[in-house]
Amino acid sequence: MRQYVLILYNESQTLLLGANLAKVCVLGCIFYLHGNIGSGKTTLCRGFLKALGYTKYVKSPTYTLVEFYSLSNKHIYHIDLYRLHSKDELINMGIYDCFDNKSILLIEWPKLEVDCLPNPDISISIDYYKHETYRQVVIVTCSNIGQIIVNTALHAGYFEYEVKK
Ligand SMILES: Nc1ncnc2c1ncn2[C@@H]1O[C@H](COP(=O)(O)OP(=O)(O)OP(=O)(O)O)[C@@H](O)[C@H]1O
Ligand SMILES: [Mg+2]
Repeated sequence: MRQYVLILYNESQTLLLGANLAKVCVLGCIFYLHGNIGSGKTTLCRGFLKALGYTKYVKSPTYTLVEFYSLSNKHIYHIDLYRLHSKDELINMGIYDCFDNKSILLIEWPKLEVDCLPNPDISISIDYYKHETYRQVVIVTCSNIGQIIVNTALHAGYFEYEVKK
C-alpha cells in the first residue's frame, strides 16, 4: 500500500490523470473515488472513458446510479452511490451484477458503512479549498496491480507527485 500526493491545476490535468489510468488499467480493477461535490470525480472518469474510445458526452451517474460502457474489449461500470444509504438500496439497484471480477469499476461516493462493496485496488481522494481552483489528490494503492497501474500512469503523465509509504 502506497500513497501518492499530487496537485491537479486544471480540468485538463484531471482528464489526463483519468486517461493515463485507463491506458494501463486491467480488467477487474476497482477504483474508489472520494471527494466533495464538484471536486472532479466524474471529470476523472470522463478522461478515463474517452481514453478508451468513448466519443459521446459522459453523463454523471448521480441519478441513474450506474452507467455501463463496453469499450476496447473492456466492460466498465461507472457508479455513483451518493443517493444511496443502505445495503438494501445497493442490492435493489443491482450492484452485485456489476461485481463480476472482470469489469472495471469506477465508484463515486463509495459508502463504506454499508460494508458490501468489494475492496478497491486504487482509492482516489480529490480535495479542493475555498478560494483556490486547483485540486489536491491523494491516491492510495491497495493491491499490487493497483500499484503498478498508478506508478505507470503517473510516470506517463509527467505529473509531479510525492510518494508516502
Ligand atoms: N484539477 C481541476 N482544477 C480545477 N477545476 C477542475 C479540476 N478538475 C475538475 N475541475 C472542474 O470541477 C468540476 C468538477 O465536477 P465533477 O462533476 O467532475 O465533480 P464530482 O466530484 O463528480 O461531483 P459530484 O460529487 O457531484 O458527482 C467541473 O466543473 C470541472 O471542470
Ligand atoms: Mg460526479
